[in-house]
Amino acid sequence: MLGSGAREHAIVSALLRDGEHEIFAAPGNAGIAAEVETVALDPTNAEVVAAYAVDAGIHLVVIGPEAPLVAGVADRLRRAHIPVFGPDKAAAQLEGSKAFAKRVMESAGVPTGRAVRVSTPEDAAAALDDFPAPFVVKADGLAAGKGVLVTPDRDAALAHAEHYLQQGPVLVEEFLSGPEVSLFFLADGHDVAALAPAQDFKRAHDGDTGPNTGGMGAYSPLPWLTDGSGPEGVAGRWASEAEFVDEVRRTIAEPVIRELESENTPFRGLLYCGLVLTPAGVRVIEFNARFGDPETQVVLPRLASPLGEMLLAAATGTLAEHDAPAFDDEAAVVVVLASEGYPEAPVTGRPLSGLEEAAAEPGAALVHAATARDGEAFLATGGRVLGVVGRGPDLAAARDAAYRGIGHVGLEGGWFRRDIAQRAAEGHGTTTTEGATA
Ligand code: AMP
Ligand code: GLY
Repeated sequence: MLGSGAREHAIVSALLRDGEHEIFAAPGNAGIAAEVETVALDPTNAEVVAAYAVDAGIHLVVIGPEAPLVAGVADRLRRAHIPVFGPDKAAAQLEGSKAFAKRVMESAGVPTGRAVRVSTPEDAAAALDDFPAPFVVKADGLAAGKGVLVTPDRDAALAHAEHYLQQGPVLVEEFLSGPEVSLFFLADGHDVAALAPAQDFKRAHDGDTGPNTGGMGAYSPLPWLTDGSGPEGVAGRWASEAEFVDEVRRTIAEPVIRELESENTPFRGLLYCGLVLTPAGVRVIEFNARFGDPETQVVLPRLASPLGEMLLAAATGTLAEHDAPAFDDEAAVVVVLASEGYPEAPVTGRPLSGLEEAAAEPGAALVHAATARDGEAFLATGGRVLGVVGRGPDLAAARDAAYRGIGHVGLEGGWFRRDIAQRAAEGHGTTTTEGATA
């Protein structure tokens, strides 16, 4: 397992539930180290990773974050004939280059927002006039989550475009209005297998206010998808979650994977579909080439099929030989604990308390994101420190468990959102992206 965050901890925990693996995490974190052996190596160094994997006789490498994908670690491992869950560098461009993703979607006939790629401020200004407000401007390459601006202010949109044009092309995109859904597919280069839909909370503060973050919480399933409480364009549209998932598989995931296959850049790994459910239909807002964080923390605990088998099947091109992943009916909610000053300037190095009490809370489990061991104690070493995952028969029960759990955790200056999954749990649907800034 390559990576060191909460996503990787969630994957390791799910694999351990399969009950039959010997797992090495590189480099892992303090929470992962409490469960499996960790190896201090740089997960983005392809030569080092391949040499270690060959030496240790590893049967499957699961790549958690995008950095090793972009660095070509999967390519190198495949050259060494080691099965890898994670796409080669070329296919990982689906995440790394928005222009690449748009082109693949166009070739595959996949519904997404109309976009214009511009290279000069003059063209950016002209493109902004082609779309009604609010304006959406995106840097083309990876911009550490800061490349996207959604704003009603044309001057701000133009300034954002001009700033990122110094680094390369910029996309001006049609604004898509509606709730966002994250839906993950395992892909083996040809076939796909859907996991369960989830929704994350990107804004720092309650009521979807404050700056954009890596994700302050998530929940699954999404009752408003099918129970009539969703907004226009959702209510009454799908009779069941399976119907929704199947539509996304048929119209988005499969066509994209087949297009990449036909271009000789097969995608073997996790296709993360970031979707907006607009009144006009489902649209792709982004693809990622890896599991999403924090959605993974709520999707994998609900998985009833053995994860290791599915990941190996995706890595070896044999998904068709397996039943579709099954999910239990229980709900899961994760609430993320952040350090003082996150996301602008997180204060790190402070001690954590109450972790055992949190984990002992019925229905609650801990996922470590950025922690380190200090003797018997744990320190917070990053902006997003850990998540508490609550499970229960419905979202209200899962929320209770998560919030009871996180209530035990002590961290000077630490904070978390109080409204994760609240609207959905109360049967009030969900918020939309309206006015979002990312
Ligand atoms: P991205 O980096 O493309 O995932 O964009 C980050 C966030 O910006 C998304 O999760 C949305 O909340 C918002 N966003 C991106 N593109 C659009 C769009 N075309 N219309 C509305 N909101 C968008
Ligand atoms: N949850 C957003 C991401 O993983 O990119």
